[in-house]
Amino acid sequence: MNVLGIEGTAWNLSVAVVDDERVHAVVNKAYKPKEGGIHPREASQHHAESMPSLLKKIFELFPKEKIDAIAFSQGPGLGPCLRVTATAARLLSLKLSKPLVGVNHCLAHVEIGRWLTGAKNPVTLYVSGGNSQVIARRRDRYRVFGETLDIGIGNALDKLARKFGIPHPGGPKIEELARKGEKYYPLPYVVKGMDFSFSGMVTAAEKLKGKARLEDIAYSFQETAFAMLTEVTERAMAYLGYDEMLLVGGVGANERLQEMLRTMCEDRNAKFFAPPKQFMGDNGAMIAYTGLLMLKNGFETKIEESIVKPNFRIEEVQVTWP
Ligand code: ATP
Ligand code: FE2
Repeated sequence: MNVLGIEGTAWNLSVAVVDDERVHAVVNKAYKPKEGGIHPREASQHHAESMPSLLKKIFELFPKEKIDAIAFSQGPGLGPCLRVTATAARLLSLKLSKPLVGVNHCLAHVEIGRWLTGAKNPVTLYVSGGNSQVIARRRDRYRVFGETLDIGIGNALDKLARKFGIPHPGGPKIEELARKGEKYYPLPYVVKGMDFSFSGMVTAAEKLKGKARLEDIAYSFQETAFAMLTEVTERAMAYLGYDEMLLVGGVGANERLQEMLRTMCEDRNAKFFAPPKQFMGDNGAMIAYTGLLMLKNGFETKIEESIVKPNFRIEEVQVTWP
């Protein structure tokens, strides 16, 4: 079965085709804010304008006639962006007379991670701009064992970067700066039970402006925030007795975060998994692949049920596949 998937919850509009065995094609067009962070309406305009050319491109790479179903990211995400994606998906489904399936974006990050790494039953750390969650499966649901109480870690990194005049997305640049950091400045380490919070850290780090080298601020920020994430992930693994961990989401590209998690896993004889970088951040292949899993298990989304869900939680999805 060949499934075409459309992802467009936030900054990246991405269309891909996958089947059971492989990713056939992926095309992307990223929205970059002129200044500040992601502006939902601007991003949705970007997606609407880019959709025709992206669809044209994907059908040049993969024949339209061979598509068996259409999957789209139904949520969570920015309302205006979700609506553009859903509209395009509905249209394609009607035009090609193929079934439609609405996919939970967080579930898609986890499932493509499992697929591409071979992880069977991991504790997943999902770290992106909008989300930061520790997720694990119990029977027929994925459950969130810990999560951010305010902003996602990616958002925190982007905000900090913006304060220092670094354009969006600032995460990769903070990583680069942190590599040259030497001095550690203590920042609020906020873990409450299994949850964590980043906005206090951002404020504290911003106050170091002019008093500390930017490299040292970036370094201190990463060390503190990533230690919090590693602590909660480890606790979930210990509590559940799981011996695999999977890292997904755009911030997963960060090598220092990977190093800390890998060390934690080695210390407890657990296996660490991370998919290739291009499939860590938002991409159409994750939506297509999860749509394929759902369709093969009898799920389908009727047009009248295809309304977008900006606050869609991973726990809402029943998971009937292995
Ligand atoms: P979601 O809708 O799942 O919240 P998203 O829209 O934030 O996803 P992603 O592609 O998953 O999109 O993640 C983007 C985030 O990843 C941005 O905040 C960006 O700064 C961050 N990021 C990307 N590369 C790195 C890196 N090397 N180090 C730290 N952060 C990074
Ligand atoms: Fe994402």
